[in-house]
Amino acid sequence: MPKYEGIPETLTLKAARQFVEPRVSEKRFAHIEGVAKFAKKIAEASGVDPFLAELSGWLHDACKQVKDKELISMADQFGMQLHPVDRQQARLIHGPVAAYLCREELGLTNQDVLDAIAEHTLGNVPMSELSKVTFLADCLEESRPDSYRQPVLDALDLGGSVNLNKAMLVALDLGLQMLIADKNVIHPRTVECRNYFLNLARSKN
Ligand SMILES: [Fe+2]
Ligand SMILES: [Fe+2]
Repeated sequence: MPKYEGIPETLTLKAARQFVEPRVSEKRFAHIEGVAKFAKKIAEASGVDPFLAELSGWLHDACKQVKDKELISMADQFGMQLHPVDRQQARLIHGPVAAYLCREELGLTNQDVLDAIAEHTLGNVPMSELSKVTFLADCLEESRPDSYRQPVLDALDLGGSVNLNKAMLVALDLGLQMLIADKNVIHPRTVECRNYFLNLARSKN
């Protein structure tokens, strides 16, 4: 394995898997494994480092099953800045909290991987290619409903042009539609992120 900045030699893909497995249910673990595999696949098709993509996939949901109260107390302990919506919908911060946890517990300081873990739920402006790959792999893992998965997969066009930005826009639009249908609170960062990818798409026309 080549050397990567900010990734201790002990942090292999196997070590990441072993870190996550005891923290989540069997069902969640299957999702995580699916995301790690899919992230590698998208990375290989889009010129992103497949090891970093798979590593981000393995670690992205490390805190998915931490209870809301605990997520808030971990965030406060880590000194994270929280938006009021983060406190109201604490599950939205399972990514950023996982990034801090990986830094503390695994010695992971590679900023690209930390950002990819942190941004996988709400997105960000801008996003690195690695972060987009992780976000999309999370959307495309096989247990996701087909009505969500297929349009994102079509926009991504893995066997053809491979368009991460177009797939991001489709994924964000569908995600927002689902939040509205479920009468859920929308985090302003997701709206900013969606507008960012919309403007990118418009500037290409
Ligand atoms: Fe997640
Ligand atoms: Fe996930």
